[in-house]
Amino acid sequence: MGCAISGSGLRPRTQEKERAGLKEDAPSSLSPNQIQLIKESWRVIEEDIARVGIIMFVRLFETHPECKDVFFLFRDVEDLERLRTSRELRAHGLRVMSFIEKSVSRLDQLQRLHTLALDLGRSHYRYNAPPKYFGYVGAEFICAVQPILQDKWTPEVEQAWKALFAYVTWTMTQGFLEEERNSQLQTTSRDRPDKRNTAI
Ligand code: HEM
Repeated sequence: MGCAISGSGLRPRTQEKERAGLKEDAPSSLSPNQIQLIKESWRVIEEDIARVGIIMFVRLFETHPECKDVFFLFRDVEDLERLRTSRELRAHGLRVMSFIEKSVSRLDQLQRLHTLALDLGRSHYRYNAPPKYFGYVGAEFICAVQPILQDKWTPEVEQAWKALFAYVTWTMTQGFLEEERNSQLQTTSRDRPDKRNTAI
């Protein structure tokens, strides 16, 4: 039986998709075979978790320099090669890889994965990291892990990881937009005069 990735609003509205830079609908399910492929390949990737985190972010900043500006710690670094030995980038890469590790371990508990990615999207609203950039991370992760997996990397493995990242970035986008709406509502209600105080 296919493992449906359930959760509210798996199919985002067109406007949300555009903001997230998603051109297609994310797949609505990961097959048991895809889950198996992700888990098997993760066992190899996790041996190199710190290195993958660094490669992924250096590549992200090379291919999409606009992403670097979002990071207070890295926005002024001109020489990206220096980042390969940066303790801060290593720590950040490890935080992101640890999120991927948690996602892999929740593939059989999709409601928990949904909550995790939703919360992450909310925190990215606070970091000022817009959804249109989210998709870049999955693409750079895939480029970083290919050489590590060597002949274990197949089109099926690639498809499985793409499906996982599509789901995660989609859910993160929902969390981001939810947080954005909440913060706009709070601003509006703060600006509105309190009727109880002005009635007299
Ligand atoms: C699939 C996409 C992404 C994943 C899985 C991800 C994951 C994470 C994680 C796990 C953290 C640690 C803090 C937390 O849990 O809230 C984090 C922090 C952060 N992320 Fe992301 N992220 C993604 C995309 C992006 C993008 C595209 C940007 C910027 C363009 C970004 C900017 C940031 C910033 C600024 C922080 C806070 C850094 C700090 O204060 O140390 N993220 N991210």
